Amino acid sequence: VHPTAARRPHAITVRSENTLYTDDHITAKFFNRGAEVDGANGQFNITPTVQLMMIGVGGNNGTTLCATILANRHNIIWHTKAGVQQPNYIGSLLRASTVRIGTEPVFGKEVHVPVSDVLPMVYPNDLVLGGWDISGVPMDKAMERAQVLGYDLQRQVAPHMALLGKPLPSIYYPDFIAANQEARADNVIPETDKAAHLEHSRANIKKFKKDNELDRTVVFWIANTERYSDIIPGVNDTADNLLASIKSSHSEVSPSTLFAVAAILEGEPFVNGAPQNTFVPGAIELAERHHSFIGGDDLKSGQTKLKSVLAEFLVNASIEPLSIASYNHLGNNDGHNLSAERQFRSKEVSKSTVVHDMVDTNRLLYKAPEIGPKGAPVGKGEHPTTLSDSKRAIDEYYSEIFCGGRSIINIFNETPSSPHPSSWILTILTELLTRVQYRKVTPNAADQKEFAPLYSAFSLLSCILKAPLVKPCTEVVNRQRNALEGFLKACIGLEGSSDLLLETRIW
Ligand code: NAI
Repeated sequence: VHPTAARRPHAITVRSENTLYTDDHITAKFFNRGAEVDGANGQFNITPTVQLMMIGVGGNNGTTLCATILANRHNIIWHTKAGVQQPNYIGSLLRASTVRIGTEPVFGKEVHVPVSDVLPMVYPNDLVLGGWDISGVPMDKAMERAQVLGYDLQRQVAPHMALLGKPLPSIYYPDFIAANQEARADNVIPETDKAAHLEHSRANIKKFKKDNELDRTVVFWIANTERYSDIIPGVNDTADNLLASIKSSHSEVSPSTLFAVAAILEGEPFVNGAPQNTFVPGAIELAERHHSFIGGDDLKSGQTKLKSVLAEFLVNASIEPLSIASYNHLGNNDGHNLSAERQFRSKEVSKSTVVHDMVDTNRLLYKAPEIGPKGAPVGKGEHPTTLSDSKRAIDEYYSEIFCGGRSIINIFNETPSSPHPSSWILTILTELLTRVQYRKVTPNAADQKEFAPLYSAFSLLSCILKAPLVKPCTEVVNRQRNALEGFLKACIGLEGSSDLLLETRIW
């Protein structure tokens, strides 16, 4: 690199024996550590002993997820007005996307393999399904109520759904979800105090695990969005205070936090697919104390995913988004619940953080730390029931370009709300991460002797979560697919290969 064009102090200096700075040149030695791949014939199989227990299993996401897995498992083929449709896992980052693991030895052609081949993972068809819902409608009828899947698929998958029976009774505190959900709540745990609710849900997890002879039970909140819990010193700020508050049935302990505590105490991972602050500080401390695993918050696969992708594109193209304004409306029960003020607020908070990390990467555009695009304000959506599960979203990106010019990108997004595979992706990934262990090897005597599990909060799940839970004092990064790819490859000893492709650029 010849730096004479702009002689100024180097903003960064690499301290390495491979990098040399002089007045005229920066000379770097680079080891291109791409891997050579001979063709992968190997197959991994692992025993299917994973249970997915969903809280809110009778809702649109829960029933759609179960029906899709059952359609794949039983190879149900159905008719639509466009013709014959086969079941598949399109849209699943783990089942339908690939990763580059190296180049062929002779011609240097890139080799891409399915993500699911990098490490042994559970196959979604093999997940044992179950869960809780405050609505006691049996699963086949709940699928019908959701109005997501086509008639012919519903007709054929219904007998399999019926075998899942009625969801387990659940914990219902009317103060936490919208008042408009009350009519649904006909399947609630009879006990009234919170300690009994905790014991009840722990017993459910234990029994399911035992009945199905399972190694792992992933507990997943896909129930309605709750209001935020107030963080109150002495109530939910530490693990001990939270446990004491459950004992005394304190009003600020939400159903989702109770389920999280149940899973943590049972040593099973808990994932929060909705936006509320289930993981109050006391819950995080409890997970750390028990070396249990937690992940959240709020599924991300549509409008918000596009927002983080587009923000990355704009900022990396040195275009400065000044504001991102969003609006959405949807017709399903989720939309109904979110039409209430306090529940909508939870969603608004989780949606507003998805571009902050991109702003932080570019202080040329955003000069002061507090300046950034107005954090994706979300216009409050109406709830037109005629739209059923259909979701409409409008986003306007208003950006500054060269010499004060302005660019406006408007995106109108129309999609069914519920057929998205985030829940099983997160389940499979969660299960996989519970099996990863590491040992630090350093040149000095401080080597870690035993292998240890990963840190309690699985930040790698964040590739499909809006408001990722990360280790305290670490940054949220919204460009997480690379992180996941790099992590999976590191687990098999491959260095994260970049797009350098040096061999294509030199003699
Ligand atoms: P839904 O309203 O169809 O289903 C939620 C289910 O949870 C209902 O069956 C309800 O009876 C049940 N429920 C409520 N409180 C409960 C409790 N305490 N215990 C057990 N069950 C309870 O909603 P949908 O569309 O399935 O969404 C589920 C959650 O996922 C919502 O919180 C939503 O905000 C979140 N989410 C959904 C996305 C999507 O569908 N595209 C994207 C991001 C997040």
